[in-house]
Amino acid sequence: MLHGKHILLVISGGIAAYKAQTLIRLIQKAGGTVQAILTKSAAEFVSPLTVAALSGKPALTELFDLTQETEIGHIELSRSADLIVAAPATANLLAKLAHGLADDLASTCLLATDTPIMTAPAMNVRMWEAAATRRNMATLRENGVIVVGPDEGEMACGEYGPGRMAEPEAILAAIETHFEGAPKPLAGRYVIVTSGPTREPIDPVRYISNASSGKQGTAIAEALAALGAKVSFITGPAEYANPQGCDIVRVTAAREMDAAVEKALPADVAVFCAAVADWHVANPAQTKIKKEAFEDPPPLNFAPNPDILKRISTLESGRPDLVIGFAAETGDLEARAARKFAAKGCDWLLANDVSTHHGVFGGNGTDIVFFDSNGHERWGAMTKTAVAQKLAQKVAAHFR
Ligand code: CTP
Repeated sequence: MLHGKHILLVISGGIAAYKAQTLIRLIQKAGGTVQAILTKSAAEFVSPLTVAALSGKPALTELFDLTQETEIGHIELSRSADLIVAAPATANLLAKLAHGLADDLASTCLLATDTPIMTAPAMNVRMWEAAATRRNMATLRENGVIVVGPDEGEMACGEYGPGRMAEPEAILAAIETHFEGAPKPLAGRYVIVTSGPTREPIDPVRYISNASSGKQGTAIAEALAALGAKVSFITGPAEYANPQGCDIVRVTAAREMDAAVEKALPADVAVFCAAVADWHVANPAQTKIKKEAFEDPPPLNFAPNPDILKRISTLESGRPDLVIGFAAETGDLEARAARKFAAKGCDWLLANDVSTHHGVFGGNGTDIVFFDSNGHERWGAMTKTAVAQKLAQKVAAHFR
């Protein structure tokens, strides 16, 4: 919560400038107030009038806007803020800040202050990776500037990589974290999150698994931890398996994951984000299966794995207060997810279509249909980070 906090928001010119409008709303919703400054090029991307209407204060663009220097000088402007947030922060703005240049209102306010500064860089991947930008970012970090993001993903210019501005929800979370004493709505709550794929051995070197990257589970664990929850993160072998601020339990096969969940109980909330194998090989070979031992491909016999989500959802005693499942479908999303929601017995279900052409597995984006006892709603296309923030906020609201 940001009650009583005043944010000076510097919007510099980039395609992400439109997201600053969402950030203004989020800061206000969290109880904070916003004074916005637009650089000249930002005003090409968003209208100062819209920003003024949203923030409830004139959007300042030029040094000369401050005609009544005694009333609202740039020194006063930046000093009266509890935090200055530059979002989006272009390579140019960051370079100016790193080198102490002050040739417009935005850069002057950033220089003329001892108020803490947070930046959310947004630029083309090559600009982000350029040696000059890297040097500037190192300088800024050394100077105590807080850096949020950037995210990795597809750019407006069609290239792919790090450089997209962090989602407004993530910037808000960073702002809230910055203000010590900001009450954390999930403080004292204990949450279990499963994540990543499971790996079912065939023999000591071969296994059956799936393409889950662990990105969504990691983002959810971090978002819950950022709201103050104590998070036990139970992960299969995944590319993304190191959420900050969480206790991490690493497992391999589904039955180990089930045992780890059991051990982690009791919990207030359990989020089952893992892509758990439904079957394991009934009798995995103790030594490597040799080609010469078989004329035809060797047969594999499967036995079912425990359905962890269903088991925990239907516990008669010790069931977490809130059990959240996922549904990974390929086609006919809403109907299949509705059936899955009914069959699993969880409280909430987040369904997405993981058909290869949607690029959900391993990608940054997803498109969630959210189910609860009231029905279902489409969240629309979002980054996994944004889904995590939204879900964490919903969990916090559940306990309010
Ligand atoms: N799940 C689980 N244990 C399993 C299988 C799935 O806990 N053995 C959980 C997943 O973590 C997810 C939900 O159940 O929250 C749905 O997983 P999904 O793979 O979409 O569906 P399945 O139940 O495996 O059914 P199907 O493969 O037929 O779609």
